[in-house]
Amino acid sequence: MSDYVNIDQTRGRPGQKPGENAARADDIFDKALSSSNLARVEEAKDAGVYPYFKPILKQNGGRVTVEGREMIITGSNDYLGLTQDPRLKEAARAALDDYGTGCTGSRFLTGTLALHEELERRLAEFLNAEAVLTFSAGFLGALAVLSALAGRQDILYFDRENHASLYDGARLSFGTLRKYRHNNLADLERLLARDAGSPGGRMIVTDGVFSMSGHLADLPGIVELAREYGARVVVDDAHGTGVLGENGRGTAEYFGLEGEIDLTIGTFSKSFASLGGFVSGPGKVVDYVKHHARPFIFTAALPATQVATVLKALEIMETEPHHRESLWRNVEQLRHGLSSLGFETLSSESHIVPVLVGPDELTVVFWRALWEAGIFTTPALPPGVPVGQSIIRTSVNADHTPEQIERLLEVFAGVGQYLGVIG
Ligand SMILES: Cc1ncc(COP(=O)(O)O)c(C=O)c1O
Repeated sequence: MSDYVNIDQTRGRPGQKPGENAARADDIFDKALSSSNLARVEEAKDAGVYPYFKPILKQNGGRVTVEGREMIITGSNDYLGLTQDPRLKEAARAALDDYGTGCTGSRFLTGTLALHEELERRLAEFLNAEAVLTFSAGFLGALAVLSALAGRQDILYFDRENHASLYDGARLSFGTLRKYRHNNLADLERLLARDAGSPGGRMIVTDGVFSMSGHLADLPGIVELAREYGARVVVDDAHGTGVLGENGRGTAEYFGLEGEIDLTIGTFSKSFASLGGFVSGPGKVVDYVKHHARPFIFTAALPATQVATVLKALEIMETEPHHRESLWRNVEQLRHGLSSLGFETLSSESHIVPVLVGPDELTVVFWRALWEAGIFTTPALPPGVPVGQSIIRTSVNADHTPEQIERLLEVFAGVGQYLGVIG
């Protein structure tokens, strides 16, 4: 007996009426209709411990209104606090008047606006890159770059903890995927050495800042290995751009390695306070992606309101370093506070500070207690994190006040002690 039924068999024999003696296929919806995972979601909702998809009614700096009450938010990616900046809102309104509500076409056809090209020029200047191409989401940027560039004989070396968009980009490509242990250069070198002499190009792909652990990629070591083994380096700097480095140019600037990274993939959905993504790098390579990547060509262009918002955010990043300074002051208060309370923050080196709770159930209970005390956050459970290493992902924005962070720490301390997560 087989679970599989050949499509031709289901169509029956010649002369057979539809459905008559035809072997029945499985219903492709079965996995949804009888999903044990969804059953657990329903149970969690009934028990009031389902932490996701909580609708925010209003946001104001470090506070959000949810289910009719004001809460302190932690874990958002609005790092510079620009989503509420009146100048970004005004830029979006002006673009709405000039260009309307949407592009309704691909960049390739009728969807390219003068604003897209202005943003690509300005961003290339900011990042000291030859060229930039923008996408309708950072996720699409990763799909576009990897699927366009990695051909049949090429090999992609991935940090195991890379973002899902990079994994899906690799799946969409014809390249071979090799995963190395998280931030483990000896493992990366082992793989590069094993492949030495085989045909095809090599690309080392890593997040700049890992979105759950807050770790930074060991870019100096990666660049050195890339040189030795003739590989290109691609960094997804979704969480680094605007935040790291003296001028906010990201992880490569932080390490003094600008010019050594072959391509940077980024997003506008975090410190740029908008939506969309980009790739920066050599003109010819960016142009190749522009003319070959299906996730760029066959999707509608980023609306003018979003592009104008990013342009304004970029201007602010370039001219007002105090947002970044204020973010880092806040990060210091949060990180120092959490570790002095005794929380395990997984050696985070960045503005993303995970609080390790461990078991899934305990993490959800931890989340619920924070929620009741007025802290809006979400737990990260497997497969987003390794099994047994569930966390509450904390981060603060530039516009959190010291009092809000103090309150946040006070609540974490109380809940952590009550649940035995800290002594
Ligand atoms: C590391 C990383 N890369 C890519 C993305 C995708 O970006 P976007 O939200 O623009 O699709 C994200 C967002 O979650 C991310 O954290």
